[in-house]
Amino acid sequence: MHRLILIPCLLAVAVSAGSALAQKKGRPSPQAVDKLVEDGFKTAAPDWKVRLVQDETQKACTASRNEPAEAGAAAIRRREKATIKYPEDGNLLGDWKKGEALAQSGYGWRYTDYPPRQANGGNCYACHQLDKKELSYGTLGPSLAEYGKIRKFAEPAVKFVYEHIYNPQASQPCGNMPRFGTSGFLTMDQIKDIVAYVMSPDSPVNK
Ligand code: HEC
Repeated sequence: MHRLILIPCLLAVAVSAGSALAQKKGRPSPQAVDKLVEDGFKTAAPDWKVRLVQDETQKACTASRNEPAEAGAAAIRRREKATIKYPEDGNLLGDWKKGEALAQSGYGWRYTDYPPRQANGGNCYACHQLDKKELSYGTLGPSLAEYGKIRKFAEPAVKFVYEHIYNPQASQPCGNMPRFGTSGFLTMDQIKDIVAYVMSPDSPVNK
């Protein structure tokens, strides 16, 4: 999710870089943009600064403009899959009602969320249709309406949803969905609750 917040910031920074740091063609150089972003984070809380440092996967995605060649994509899948942790009792389904609240909450890691006053949310609705009764939702990701029902609530689908929320890049290298579990943004229990919201027969997503 922080990627979503960073993108507008980066754009604003890139635009405001303007003439002072512009290259010949009128575009700011990558170094100038990096410097402005770093300057912008000077007063930020220390735990924000880690966001300026790309991990290996982010570097590979940047270098390939999110289109890694097959060998690179396979390396990303392998590396990201290895970060996924599973509940010890093997139960991937939590409480769909709690999951519903989380799926609709965009709280967490925004400037106004410091110091944190409530749990982070999954912000799923910002990119996906879920409950068909919901009027407002984003379309960056595919519709998840009836996602569980269409897949007959099958166990492999439950596992896929858990893994995709925990770390979508394990199956979709350089995709646009945040790595909620691996980044530490959501806890394992929160992820289980959201899996139940997507995959439980009682959930409004599957009505
Ligand atoms: C920033 C946008 C964004 C957010 C937020 C987001 N997703 Fe996604 N999601 C995507 C995109 C884009 C895809 C397509 C594949 C990919 O890039 O991973 C996707 C794919 C998926 C899929 C796989 C769909 C399929 O084709 O089978 C599931 C399941 C899913 N998302 C669930 C969720 C849930 C649950 C949440 C909330 C915790 C969530 N997503 C939050 C963008 C997002």
